[in-house]
Formats: sequence, C-alpha cells, structure tokens
Amino acid sequence: MGRSAGPPAELAERAQALREALQEHNYRYYVLEDPTVPDAEYDRLLRELERIEQEWPELISDDSPTQRVGAAPAEGFETVEHAVPMLSLANAFSEQEVREFDRRIRDQLDLATIDYVAEPKLDGVAIALRYESGRLVLAATRGDGYTGENVTSNVRTIDSVPLSLRGKPPDLLEVRGEICMSRSGFADLNRRLAAADQKTFVNPRNAASGSLRQLDSKITAQRPLRFFCYGSATSEALPDSHAAMLKQLREWGLPIHPEVRRVSGVEDLLAYHADLLVRRDEMDFEIDGVVYKVDDLDQQREMGFVSRAPRWALAHKFPAEEEMTRLIDIEVQVGRTGALTPVARLAPVFVGGVTVTNATLHNADEVRRKDVRPGDMVIVRRAGDVIPEVVGPVLDKRPDDARPWSMPESCPACGSAVARVEDEAVARCTGGLVCPAQRKRALEHFVSRKAMDIDGLGTRLIEQLVEADLVHSPADLYRLDGDTLASLERMGEKSASNLVQAIARSRQVPLARLLFALGIREVGEVSARNLARHFGTLDKLIAADVGALEAVRDVGPIMARHIRAFFDEPHNRQVLTALAEAGVRWQEAEPENEGGSQPLAGQTFVLTGSLEQMTRSEAKTRLEGLGARVTGSVSKNTTAVIVGDSPGSKLDKAKELGITVLDEDGLASLLESS
Ligand code: IVH
Repeated sequence: MGRSAGPPAELAERAQALREALQEHNYRYYVLEDPTVPDAEYDRLLRELERIEQEWPELISDDSPTQRVGAAPAEGFETVEHAVPMLSLANAFSEQEVREFDRRIRDQLDLATIDYVAEPKLDGVAIALRYESGRLVLAATRGDGYTGENVTSNVRTIDSVPLSLRGKPPDLLEVRGEICMSRSGFADLNRRLAAADQKTFVNPRNAASGSLRQLDSKITAQRPLRFFCYGSATSEALPDSHAAMLKQLREWGLPIHPEVRRVSGVEDLLAYHADLLVRRDEMDFEIDGVVYKVDDLDQQREMGFVSRAPRWALAHKFPAEEEMTRLIDIEVQVGRTGALTPVARLAPVFVGGVTVTNATLHNADEVRRKDVRPGDMVIVRRAGDVIPEVVGPVLDKRPDDARPWSMPESCPACGSAVARVEDEAVARCTGGLVCPAQRKRALEHFVSRKAMDIDGLGTRLIEQLVEADLVHSPADLYRLDGDTLASLERMGEKSASNLVQAIARSRQVPLARLLFALGIREVGEVSARNLARHFGTLDKLIAADVGALEAVRDVGPIMARHIRAFFDEPHNRQVLTALAEAGVRWQEAEPENEGGSQPLAGQTFVLTGSLEQMTRSEAKTRLEGLGARVTGSVSKNTTAVIVGDSPGSKLDKAKELGITVLDEDGLASLLESS
C-alpha cells in the first residue's frame, strides 16, 4: 500500500487522544497542582505521540505537546506593541501606607469596606500572552510598558503555559502574568552552568529573565521556568470581579498562584502580608511582597490610574533580602589550620533585617567564580537566618580601576608563605606554629599525649598563655617558670609546679614524636614514625627533597610536598633551633620493630568510600603501623572491608563473599584496641 493514502484513521485518532491526555495531565499538574499520573507515565505518552508524529508529520498540530522543544535560533527579538500598556504598581513599605491606600479607596468609592484580592508579588519577569481562538499566538515581554519583545518561541517551551486553552475561551484573550524560576530549579541550573564552566546567575529572577531572552529557544526549553497568571488585558467573556476572573482563567487552563486570596478590609490585607512574610523563605518561588487589588472591576474602572499605575492596586513590599553596597575590600582571615578565608568588607547595608558589614567569600575560587573585585558594587543577600552572602558584582557599576583579587602570597597574620595545593580550594599559611592565628590550636596539638605529652596543659591554659603573650612558639613553653604559671587564672602553686615538671620531662623526646608534634599537614603519628625511621636524624629529613621524601613508606606526593614546604619555611626551622636551645633533645629513631607490637600482623584490610575522621591514606598508614596489610581488592583472604561514605563496588564484593564489614566507628575501635 502506498503512503499517499495518508495516516491510518486509528493512528490519527490515537494521536489526538494522546494530545488530549497530555494536555489534561499538564493542566492537572500546573493548574490544579494535583497530578494523577507519575512523570514517567507522562513521558511515556509523550514518546508515543512523538513516534506517531515522526512517521506521519501531517498529524502534527502546532499546539501538540511535542511542539514545545524550541525553534531555530533567532537573530534578535522582534518588537511588539502592547494593545493595552503593561503598567507598574505603586509600592508601599509600611502598614501606614497600606492604611492610606485603603482610606483613599473607601473615600473615593464612598464605601465602608472594600473587597480585595491579595496575591503574592512574584519576583520574576512580566509577560503578556495573547490567545486567538484559544491558541497561543504571541508572548511578549513588558519592555518599556508600551512595546516589548516577541518571545513566543521561547515561551512555547514552558510547560505551564498552555499552547491551547480548555473550554470555550473568547476569540481574543490576552492574559498577563509572571515567568519565574523556583529556588531549587535555580540552584540546579547554577550547578549545571558551573560544572560547564559557564557564568552562573545571581538570583532566580535574573535566571528567569536570562533564560527567557535566549535567542536559541532550545536553551530556554532546558531551563526550569514556570508561568503564573495574575490578570487579563481583555474583558470579553470575563466576569466582573478580579477573583471570578482568575477563577475563569484557571478553568481555561491558565495557572493561578495557589496563595491568591479574596479578602475584605485593610486588616485582612495586613494579615495576609504578615502571613506570607513569615512563610516567604519556604515558598518555592521567591516573592518580594504581596499585591492588593480592588476586587470589583467596576470599582477598578471608577478608581482609574495615576501616572503609570492603577489607583486600585498596591504592591506591599517585603524588606529586601538583597541590597547593593560597595565592596570596600577583601581581607583574609587565618583559621586554626592555617586555612585562609577571604572575607568581604562591605559598606554597611541594611538587608534581611540586619546591618551587614562583612560576609565570607569562602575561598579564592569562589572569589574568582563570582568575579567580585575590591571597589565593586555588589549584591548582598541575607535571607531568613542564613549568613549574609555576596551574590555577585553589578557589572554596570564596576569602577574602571577595579582589579581582580587574588590570594596574598604571604600570610597576613605572620608573613609566612601561602601554599595552595592543587585540587584543593583552600589556601593555607605555611607559618605553622609561628602564625599567631594558628598558634593556640597548634600548641594544643604540640602538647597532646601522642606528641610531646605534656600533662596539665589544657585548652584554657593555652588560651591564656597565648593571649598574655607568654607563649609565642612551642619553645617558649620551656621558659615558663612556676611563678608565671601560678599567676594565671585557675592555677594554684601546686598545679603550676606539676606543670613545670611535666614540661621539663618532655625535653627528652623520640624524633618521631617531635615530628608528629610539629603539626606538619598530613603527617600523622604513623607517618612521623616512618619518617624518623627512614632518615634517622632531623638534619637528614630536613635535607631531603620531595623525591627522597616520597621514597619513605606510605609517604605520597602530597604529604611529601607538605613536609618540604614546612621545612622550607624559615620560621619553622627557627622554632626547631629555639627548641634545641631550650634544651629539648630528640633522640634518633626507635629501633625498627619498636615495642614489637604488631597486633594486626597477618590480617588484610580493604578501604572503600570516604572516611570522615581521617583520610584513607592515613587509615592505611595506621593499619600498616599495626602490622596489617592494606590492599585494593576484596578476596576471600580479606579480613575486613572498611566502609566510609558512598562506598564503591568493594562493599558489594565483601557482602557476596561474606567478609566482615566495618564502618568508621568500627575502624576507630579496631585501631584503639590494637
Ligand atoms: S499586577 C496594572 N500582580 O510586579 C497592574 N503584578 O510593578 C499590573 N508582579 O513587573 C501588575 N506579581 O509583573 C501584578 N500578582 C501580581 C504580580 C505582579 C508580580 C509584577 C509585574 C510587574 C510588577 C508591577
């Protein structure tokens, strides 16, 4: 049979039935917000329709759900004139202004109480949609209110915009509404853009606007845009109140925001505002206030307009969650581990209910990604109780002399070199024990049991010693006398003299313990022991280059570089000299089989997933230090598999072979008991 016969009748019918079913599902999902089928079923029906239409293109209708995918890229947007101008709203920020609004209306209409419709003020992009004979024929942006841009092919890709209306709409219907992006859709989109090394958006509104103004509608099609209708610019076949009109529009298939309410009198308006204000941050779509509209359309006509805004409507704004301010400078804070955090110093700005003067920028990558520069005007955001955030620069306002920022090469607290490890976002001060910002924590580590083991020197005492400037570097501990210590808070003479003795005892220390005590990054107890054994003396270790360090058992390239950087830092070498001068004597490495205690000898472990309390290589080193073997694959000879977060297939293999599985706590107690 030739194809000239056209599509078989049953396929034409099936295509029609599929289109109707898909439109119905869409309506239930976006308008009624009460879907009856899972997304997978929708997709299945859509694919079936696509297959039929592919074979019989003559069956395609332009309102088919398959026709949302996007047209060929445009060169630019055509200008369209709005038959009815798209006006703006008068704003109010206080209760008093709302009361005045209500009074003016009551006075002018000579009524005791006014019925209103209260609506969320959606923070998106205004859009006008024109339907002719129930079919979407034009979508236009607001532009200057009188002429906008024709974005029809982009808007057609938005699933919540009906391509054809339900029921019996008038021949001509023009509706107005807002195109928005949900918070989660925005976050997903930015993640996708960042992963593709593309510029991210500062907020959902900009993302909605940018997505709508894509010349390639296939890009718009991939953006999570939603449409909510809040009014009409035509009156044919429409009821005479705003609430009834919205209800009618909804029946024709246009999505109305679920929080729209019909209310009466000014107290209701204020209560509505207060209610949405507290729920603001939980709402899917950002709102920047609420809108009050006189419900009765005759009353609206009687009120009329002033300049470009209706007298019968008011936008009651919320306190802004985003404000613009000057980024005065980017300063660097030094954390406990030497991690350097860039912090934005801002011209004071009132945002989200508080005055903000600084905000973390997290790390150098974040500064680069956001491209914020000292001197820029920036958008600062504080939503709810969340800590304030610098969203990004306002490029239009960038001063000509604004230069990109980079992490300083030396630590602002101590002047030591700053190191940044590849693949790691954090830059760190290499000053180690000398950097005042790191000193307290480093001292705690220095005196800890597995390091110099100085009993009686707790966190509080270290705080006091550092703050009173009695201890600058660990060597200073050895110059403390009983009187000085006894003068500190909560220190009796007895405990002071005990401490002096404990400090004195620690002067004799195995090299491995000293190395561990220095707090070189990545160098744990076991690595310190391996290093001490391998080199025998500190001088040899200090002289070793990265290659020589990597030759040490279990020392990888990262640890080797940390060790090298530590000893390259003159401050750190000075600390060692000072320790020696203070009488600290490190003995050479202990004999190879120190203590002979290898309780895990003969056992084999496999590590999978990421551990929280230690790195995998550290866990490996510690297990090996106890005599165990650590291998990469699970076999019947494996003693146990140690499983961290998001483990790989090794866990499955272990289960299959019936091998013991330990979690991180299990590992901890194994190490502890061994
Ligand atoms: S009514 C003549 N209702 O706010 C009145 N506008 O300044 C026309 N907006 O960009 C607007 N939510 O797109 C109205 N529920 C709502 C709204 C709303 C957001 C936007 C609108 C325009 C601006 C008005």
